[in-house]
Formats: sequence, structure tokens, C-alpha cells
Amino acid sequence: MAQPLVLVSNRGPVSYEEDGSVKRGSGGLVTALTGLASHRDAIWIASAMTDGDVEQSSEHGGRAFEVAAPDGGTYHVRFVESDAEAYDRFYNIFANPMLWFIQHYLWDQSNAPDIRRHEVDAFDHGYQVVNRDLAAAVLEEIDGQDEPVVMVHDYQLYTLPAMVRAERPDVFLHHFVHIPWTQSDAWRVLPAGIRDELFHGLLANDIVGFHTRSYRRNFLQCCRDLLDLEVDMERGVVALDDREVWVRAYPLPIDYEATRAVARRDGVARFEEELRRRRREFQILRVDRADLSKNVLRGFTAFDIFLEQHPEFAERITFTAQLMPSRTDVPEYAEYLEKIEALVAVVNHRHGTPDWMPIDLKLRDDLEEAVASYKHYDVMMVNAMFDGMNLVAKEGPLVNERDGVSILSENTGAHEELGEFALSVNPFDVQELADAIYSALTMSAEGRARRASGLKEIVTSRDPGDWIDEQIADIRAKARGAAASA
Ligand code: F6P
Repeated sequence: MAQPLVLVSNRGPVSYEEDGSVKRGSGGLVTALTGLASHRDAIWIASAMTDGDVEQSSEHGGRAFEVAAPDGGTYHVRFVESDAEAYDRFYNIFANPMLWFIQHYLWDQSNAPDIRRHEVDAFDHGYQVVNRDLAAAVLEEIDGQDEPVVMVHDYQLYTLPAMVRAERPDVFLHHFVHIPWTQSDAWRVLPAGIRDELFHGLLANDIVGFHTRSYRRNFLQCCRDLLDLEVDMERGVVALDDREVWVRAYPLPIDYEATRAVARRDGVARFEEELRRRRREFQILRVDRADLSKNVLRGFTAFDIFLEQHPEFAERITFTAQLMPSRTDVPEYAEYLEKIEALVAVVNHRHGTPDWMPIDLKLRDDLEEAVASYKHYDVMMVNAMFDGMNLVAKEGPLVNERDGVSILSENTGAHEELGEFALSVNPFDVQELADAIYSALTMSAEGRARRASGLKEIVTSRDPGDWIDEQIADIRAKARGAAASA
């Protein structure tokens, strides 16, 4: 594979602020791909998401250019600008919330969604437009390449593979989905025509990858239930026309060396000083995008119950929640942030005292602050309702210095790997979560040490280089016509 690898995703590794400064892209996808894109000969095609990105893109004539990310690494990035209205429909209506909600079981189906012209237009004149724009950039980049390989990422780009395949039947397409794949009935929310376009778009790939075996199983079952296709569940193969699509699970590891390097930075040390100064006896921590799937409200409700049932912890504990505002133009997300702030006020009012604020809510995206907090928690809460992987569940235990206990939702992808050494919770059961807080805080030192070292061992056993190598090995095997194996 001497030719540059072509990666394509909606969010790129960096984005440009209004003042021209560069910010790292947020979320698990960027964390997953940054190592790959900075260490291999790769070109990363992404949507221009800010005015600054658009400006950079036009300064470079719409072509790829080199950019140094603030956290290190240089990338070859090509920003693709779409019509602003089309992009708004794509991002704020169809990808989020529609697909995101379907893939996290977030729709409260007796109330929403209503599928009106608004939603159908968002697909036809938004989602499809952005997929087409990015597909055109992919086609340009692979022009002249012999047997090109393109790695496509996530739910924003389900129809792009069919667009690329139509023009370049010889391309090898590998698509990784970073979020859960839900069971067939969750997809019945969508009109059949749209559903078919999405599935057939995705099935134009040679390989489709997920974080876990259970998402892989759900996807295969969907192909059977919704498209009536021939599926081999054992080998993970969907047969259609005269092709085979391999369906695989590649659990995403974190770049533990890079995370450890961040933990050693001076900026982190400065935050640690502040944390030590303000620290009570016990510290609970959560770090998340402010997303409905993360189940922030039930986390605070459980803490409320815990304080009610264990008044002996009053004034001795702080629950720090560092939440990054996300997708704030989507009404459901804006409303969610308001509910979070309101609930924090209620819990702090109910239990707080003049010099003790039980919940410390930090609405900001600051990697160094988050990593400083990782080092000092006693309990980390990851209680997502459903979550593709959840990398915080891996980053926290890696750098934590207090044998902190992880409370981990059984519906996160990370639970398949880490469940044995965490306190597993059903994310809907707030009493169980309150009990888990108590168990974590009162656990013996040996119990905490055993779990903490178990988590560290798992988290350092693979890195994103291994993750990519597994995918490249499958790409090579399939390209040379090997038979699929589970
Ligand atoms: O990993 C899931 C994901 O939605 C990515 O596709 C995305 O880049 C990230 O989370 C953050 O979301 P957004 O790009 O919408 O801010």
C-alpha cells in the first residue's frame, strides 16, 4: 500500500476558530484516527465545519494542505465545503438527531420523531448533498491511483460509499462505524426508501467494522430482517449481487503513550495544584460530551439519592462533571443542557451548605483539565444509556493515581472489555447507581488496587496502531480473495 491512504469523515482532526487559531476536533473519532493519520502517509478528507475551515479550504484552493495539530502531529487535511443550508440539514436534522437517536435508542417513540417533509428534505437535500460533496473529493484524491483504498468513518457518511463505488468499481472501501448499531426495529422509524438508501450505501463497502460483536450481530440481523439479504452470521458475511461484504468487530483502544504524555504536561500539573487545593476527602468524576446518550441527568439523580441515603458523606465529597457542550444548534441538545444546569442547581440547593457545593459542573472542553482530574478521582462514573465505545472509560483508569473505581454502564462498548474490573451498572437503575457509588467509596484498598491494575493492564494491551493493523490485515486478505473467517 504505497499510495496514500484516503480517510474520510465529517469531523476532521482540527478546526479553525474565528480568530484563526487551530483547535483539536472533539470526540472519539478524532482520538481514534489522529495516530493513524499522523504516522502513515494518509490524506484526511473532512467537512469544513466552521467559517475558519471554509476560509482555510479556499486559501488552499480546495486542495489538501499540511496542518500541525495543537496536541502534536501533522496532518494532510482536505476540507470540503458544502452549501451552508444543505450542511445545516445534514448535521442538525438528519445526522443529529435522526440517525444518532436511532442508533442510541433515544427516540421517545410515542412522542417523536414525526417524519414530515422537513425530515425527508433533510435527507434528500442535506445528507445526500454532503455525502456527494465528500464523495467527489474522494474521487479526485484517488484519481490515477491503482486499486485505491478508502477508509470511511461513521454514521454521517452512509451513502458516500455507493457514490464512490458507482464511479470507481475497483476501489476498496472500508467503513468503520463509531457508534452502536441498534436492533432492526429501531430502524423502522425511517421511511423504507431512506432506510434502503442508507443500507445499500453502507453495503457498497467491502468491509464494515464496528466496536463490538453485539453491534456486528445487530447489523447482520438488520440485513436479514430489513433487506431480506442472505447473511452468514457465523462468518460475518452479507451476500448481495455478486459481492460479499465482510462485517467485523474491531474494538478501539486508546493511544496510551500519548495520553500518558499529556498527563506529564506542565499545564496538567497546574490544574492538579488547583484540584489539590480545593479537594474534599472524596472525589467523583465524569467527563463527557453533553450528549443525551451519556445519561448525565440520571447520574446526578443517583448522586442525589446517595447523599440522601448516606448523610455521613455530607461535606466530604464532590462530584465534578466536566461536560463539553455539543451540537448546541440541535434543539434536543440545547434543552438537555438546560435540564442539566437545572438539576445541578436543585441537588446543590438540596444538599449543599454555605461552604460546600456537592456538584461542580464545568461546561467546557479542556483536555488538560480533564486529564488532571483523571489522575485524582476516587470514583469515575460512565453511565451512558448506550455508547459505541466510550474512551473516557479507558483514559481515566490509565492515568489515575488513587486506585479509583470505575462505575461502568453495561451498555457501553467498553464494557465488553473492561466489565470484569469495573462496577457494572444498568444505566436506567438509579438506585443501583447510587449503591455503586457507595460500594466504590467503601471498597477495601485491596479490592480497589486489584480492579485498578486489571483496568490498566487491559487498556495498555493494544493501541490504535494495532486497531488499524487488524483492519489493514482484513483489507489485504479480502483484496486477495481470501475467504471470510469469524
Ligand atoms: O464518535 C461518534 C461521533 O459522533 C463522531 O462521529 C464525531 O466526530 C464525535 O462523536 C463528536 O461529535 P460531533 O462531530 O458531532 O461534534
